[in-house]
Order: sequence, then C-alpha cells, then structure tokens
Amino acid sequence: MKRTQKINVGVIGLGMGRWHLQNYAKCANANVLAVCDIDETRLKAVQMEYDAPYAYANYAELIAMDELDAVTVALPNYLHAPVTIAALRAGKHVLVEKPMATSAREAEEMVAAAKRAQRILMMHFNYRFTPEHFFLKDYVQSGGLGEVYFAKAFYLRRRGIPALGSWFTQKALSGGGALCDIGVHALDLALWLMDYPQVSDVLGASYAKFGPPLAQKAKKTFDVDDLSVGLIKFENGASLFLEASWASNIAKDEVYVDLYGTKGGLTTRGGAKMFYERAGAQVDAAPVRVRPVETPQQHFVNCIQRGMTPICPGEHGLAVQRILDAIYASSLNA
Ligand SMILES: NC(=O)c1ccc[n+]([C@@H]2O[C@H](COP(=O)([O-])OP(=O)(O)OC[C@H]3O[C@@H](n4cnc5c(N)ncnc54)[C@H](O)[C@@H]3O)[C@@H](O)[C@H]2O)c1
Repeated sequence: MKRTQKINVGVIGLGMGRWHLQNYAKCANANVLAVCDIDETRLKAVQMEYDAPYAYANYAELIAMDELDAVTVALPNYLHAPVTIAALRAGKHVLVEKPMATSAREAEEMVAAAKRAQRILMMHFNYRFTPEHFFLKDYVQSGGLGEVYFAKAFYLRRRGIPALGSWFTQKALSGGGALCDIGVHALDLALWLMDYPQVSDVLGASYAKFGPPLAQKAKKTFDVDDLSVGLIKFENGASLFLEASWASNIAKDEVYVDLYGTKGGLTTRGGAKMFYERAGAQVDAAPVRVRPVETPQQHFVNCIQRGMTPICPGEHGLAVQRILDAIYASSLNA
C-alpha cells in the first residue's frame, strides 16, 4: 500500500460506531467508504451525516467490498468475534470495541485469525488516549516510579446500569456486566501503565444486588454482575486491585488508576499526579503542559499505512479477557 493512498474504512454497528465515524472523518489519511447497521433508519441517517458512499444492513456485504481496507466493529459483544474473524479472513484490518469478546476462547480465535491473515487487530481501549495518560506512560517507562509493585483500578458508578433487558444485561450477549462493560477500561489502563505483566493468579468476586430486583419489576432479563472486584497477581511479584460497579451505595462515580512504585507513585484521579520524596520532603507533582495525542482511529489508520503494530494490539484484549474470565470463574468457585 502506498503511503499517499487513503485508507478506506467501514464502520459496523452505529451506536458507539458513530464516535468512530466522527474520528475517522477527521483523519486526513482515511476515507469513510461504508457503514452498516441492521437498524435501517439509523443506517440511512448516519450514511447521510457522514456522506458514506455505501450503506449495508448485512455486515457480510460490507466486508466483501474489495476497495475496503479496514473496519471498526462496534457491535454488541457477542458479535465481536464472528464479525472480526470474518473481516480478517476477508483481508480487512480490524479495530474492535471493548471488551474484545464474550470469552477468552473467542478472543484467542480472533488473535489467531489476525496472525493468519497478517492484518492488524487493534482494541478500542480509548481510555488510554489522553495526553495525561500518554505522559504517565512515558513517566513510568522512563523509571519515574522505580519498581511498580501494586496498582488499583476503579470504574465506579453509584447508579448506572445501562438499558435494562438490552444485550448489556444478558450474559449470553454481553459476556458479563459492569466488569466487561466498564471495568475493562480501568483494567487496561492500569495494565498498560504497568507494561502488561504476565498474570500468575486471579481472585475475584461478582455481585448482582441492584439489577435483578429492577429487572424483575420491569419483566426484563438481568443475569450479569453489577459489582465485581478482583485481585490480580503477576509473575513479577506485583499485584492489582480492580473494582467495577454499575450500581453500589458509594459516595460518587469515579474512574481512576493508582500505581505504587519504590521511587514514586501516581494517580489519574482528577488529573495526573505523581508522589515522591525529594530533599527530605514528600512532594506532589503534576504536569502543567502535555503533548496532544492522536485519536485511536488516527492511530489505527496510521498503523495500517505505516505497517506498524498498534499500541493496543489484540493480544492486550486477550490478556484482559483472560482476567475477566478468571474473575467470574473465581467468583463462581467461592
Ligand atoms: N469504548 C467505549 O468507550 C465504548 C462506549 C460505549 C460502547 N462501547 C462498546 O461498543 C459496542 C457497541 O455498544 P453500543 O453502546 O453502541 O451498543 P448499542 O446497542 O447502542 O448499538 C449497537 C448497534 O449495533 C447494531 N447491530 C446489532 N446487531 C447488528 C448486526 N448483526 N449487524 C449490524 N448491526 C447490528 C444495532 O442496531 C445498534 O445500532 C459494545 O461492544 C460496547 O461495549 C464502547
């Protein structure tokens, strides 16, 4: 592929998929060629809004397009694996939404399909893509924290269960609740900052205390977790505590990661901050100006054009998925 050639992209699933379109539309080296959704009204409206030449209700028709280079898969979770694998087999590069799949087995098949097809499989771990988080990644990588031996990752909602009875609250369609839906963002951010260490052990507990009574009243299905916690231990001796909640009796909604290191610590809570000792004093520090970062879509398109591996490869989605599976398995075994 010539560097000057624009990458033709298609977006499958036009809920969160519209966010992908917004970002693709801003990429000078991408061209929105096609969109897909089974909801024909939504499909037509989005096609017009983004001036996409092609629109399909059937994803198989979109991925069969010869001119198409890459797709975003922003479908309900149970469709991530089959659609991603079909797209890879058709020779397309894939940017897939989180969580990668509904089980690690599916995620493994996706990674294998990308390898076989020699195409890029990138996870949409978009919470990494802020200037402050990129700064923190560099800070950790340059040794600012010393040895990182403990981390905490939180994605907490006091009351925030998504559409009751939709695919989000049905295990067979989503793979799980709060942990899969929002816990993955905090988990990925912490793992990325820690450089994705090898997992040795996972202990977890999942609860559903708010969803089931609400669902019963509304005569809807809710068979997923609305609170999950996990303790993840790594082969390098470090550990990570994770908590994800759609609903719990807590003070407020919060999303943040803390890292504890021998030379310093950091938090993303309320902006990037670092903590260390200098000249006999305990010091808090914060960056005052950080470099802008590209969007995940721009990164994906650039990686395709330049033949680079994305910073969130399928392997990271698989590592996260294995932890999700292990937390649920540990919870069932309790
Ligand atoms: N990264 C993030 O911050 C973020 C935010 C929200 C959602 N998501 C993820 O995006 C994905 C989609 O979530 P959502 O909130 O957009 O869900 P949604 O239910 O709002 O939208 C899904 C869309 O897919 C369409 N669809 C369903 N089956 C289809 C099929 N077989 N073929 C074509 N279209 C089909 C639906 O009609 C709908 O328009 C999920 O994996 C979710 O976890 C990620």
